[in-house]
Amino acid sequence: MSQAKQNPGYVSQDYLQMLAERVQHVKQRSYEAMEVREGMCVLDVGCGPAIDTHALAKLVGPSGRVYGVDYDNEMISNATKKTEEHALASYVEHLVADATKLPFDDNTFDACRSERVLQHVAHPEDVLAEMARVTKPGGRIVVVDTDFGTLSIDSSEDRVERILTRITTEISHYNGYAGRQLYRYFREQGLMHLQIEMLPFFVTQLQLMRKIFMLEKVEEMAIQNEAITQDELARWHASLEAAEAKQTLFGSASQVMLTGLVPG
Ligand SMILES: C[S@@+](CC[C@H](N)C(=O)[O-])C[C@H]1O[C@@H](n2cnc3c(N)ncnc32)[C@H](O)[C@@H]1O
Repeated sequence: MSQAKQNPGYVSQDYLQMLAERVQHVKQRSYEAMEVREGMCVLDVGCGPAIDTHALAKLVGPSGRVYGVDYDNEMISNATKKTEEHALASYVEHLVADATKLPFDDNTFDACRSERVLQHVAHPEDVLAEMARVTKPGGRIVVVDTDFGTLSIDSSEDRVERILTRITTEISHYNGYAGRQLYRYFREQGLMHLQIEMLPFFVTQLQLMRKIFMLEKVEEMAIQNEAITQDELARWHASLEAAEAKQTLFGSASQVMLTGLVPG
């Protein structure tokens, strides 16, 4: 199995496409925060299936350059294929690389972003150090990540809900608290003019909620770890289905976005 698929938080390309529609407002804010202009050279770290690199391509235009890196071979081969299909290959390139060892010289990029990647890495500070190294002095670094500690689902089974949200944060991701840690990483990296934005999202439909919050996987983990019983699981399902039937279902989580400038 590939390194990417062994990661407890591994998600498929279909999942990422589905989620992209729900967090379009977050993506848009991150491009604005990068202050991308025509002709710039920009990087997306942990780019997945080229959703953001193609959006950035529209902003930099053919006189600019966009790179995306991801350690998942499958993501990169699909990203490359999509780039060729969209006739963007002359200025958009995707490379297989680990975010903690970026294959670029110092001071290469005008701006650099990463979205929902640090939650998957054991040492997020190393990723930020690499992003700072490859970004030019005065260049912008924008990182968006989820604080799964804010994951919350309204249910009468609140004990089960707290166990499942904790498993999501602490077992099904290497670093489910990444969002709340970004400010610390940015300060420790010495980035300047920090800006913090909170970007919540919510869901009110059960099928979508189960997909977005990966409830099936987390419930399985809870049963395997004997954190909940089959009876509790059945009651939890019934509570969500009842809420859906009454049109009162609600779940939410917050993402944190940090923007900083490389000193110099
Ligand atoms: C939740 S997905 C987000 C993808 C994309 N940024 C988006 O917003 O659609 C996380 C991505 O980070 C990649 N990733 C995780 N750890 C990585 C690492 N150490 N180096 C490079 N990519 C990594 C995964 O393969 C995956 O494509």
